[in-house]
Amino acid sequence: MVLVKTEKELKAHLSSLNAHKGLGLVPTMGALHKGHASLITKAVSENDTVIVSIFVNPTQFDNEEDLIKYPKTFNADLKLLERISDKIIVFAPSIKAIYGNQVKSRSYDFNGLDQVMEGAFRDGHFDGVGTIVEALLTIVSPNRAYFGKKDFQQLQIIKKLVETQKLAVEIIGCPIVRETNGLALSSRNERLSKTLRSEASFIYKTLKAAKIKFGTKSASYVKEWVQKQFKEHPELRLEYIEITDVDTLQSIQRKKKNTKYRAFVAVYAKDVRLIDNIALN
Ligand code: PAF
Repeated sequence: MVLVKTEKELKAHLSSLNAHKGLGLVPTMGALHKGHASLITKAVSENDTVIVSIFVNPTQFDNEEDLIKYPKTFNADLKLLERISDKIIVFAPSIKAIYGNQVKSRSYDFNGLDQVMEGAFRDGHFDGVGTIVEALLTIVSPNRAYFGKKDFQQLQIIKKLVETQKLAVEIIGCPIVRETNGLALSSRNERLSKTLRSEASFIYKTLKAAKIKFGTKSASYVKEWVQKQFKEHPELRLEYIEITDVDTLQSIQRKKKNTKYRAFVAVYAKDVRLIDNIALN
C-alpha cells in the first residue's frame, strides 16, 4: 500500500503503473468500517489499481460541532487498507491542497434532487459533497467510482453531477452493510453508547415493517405509521420519513405502475444523527 498526500505525488505514482483493467476510486472521509471495506473490496476486484481517498471535507458539514466530533482514525484506517490489498493507493490531501486559501463550495443545480431530505435539513451539504467529489474525480480520473447506498440521495446526486459536468466515469452504487442487529454501518455509530447502538436496531426493523405495509397501503398511511412507531420509542427522535420515487427523489402522492420507490429516514439517537433507507418494491 502506498500513501500519497499531493496531486503531484499521486500522478507520479499512477504514471508508473500498468492499469489495463482500470483505475477505481473510493472516496471516504476516513473512520473506515466494514461498509467501506466492502466498497473497497469490490473496487479491488474490478480494477488494477484502487485509490482510496481519505479527506474529511469541511464544506459538507452544516454544523461545526459535527465536523469537530467526526471520528478521525487515520492510523487504524491505514492498517485496515493494508489488510485488504496491496493494490491500494491512499490519497490523503490537506485542506489547502483541495481548496487553496478559500474553503468554499461550488454551487450546483442538481435538478431538485438536493432540495429534499438531507438537502432540506443540512444547508449546503450537497454543494459541499459535489465540490469534493468533482475535485477528486478530476484529480484521479478513475474509470469507476464507488459509493454506498446508505447515502442513496448522495449517490443519485453524484450520478447527476457526473452527467452535468460530463465526467467520464462509471458511478457504482454498492449495497448497505449492516451490523448483525440490522443497524446500517456508519462512522457515526462509534459515537453511540452500547445501549443506544442496540436501541438503534429499531430503525431498520421499522423500515422492514414499512416495506411490508407499503405492499397494501398508501405512502401517506405508511409514513404516519412510521411516525407513530418512533413516538413510542423516546430514545430515538425521527427527523423525517419520506417515501420517494428513486429517480426524482420527490415524495410520492399516489403509487404508479413501473416506478421504483424507496423509504428514507433520519433519526437522532441522543445527539448522533443516523440515516437509513430501504427499497420498497
Ligand atoms: O460519503 C462520504 O463519506 C462523503 O460524503 C464523500 C462521498 C467521501 C465526500 O466527502
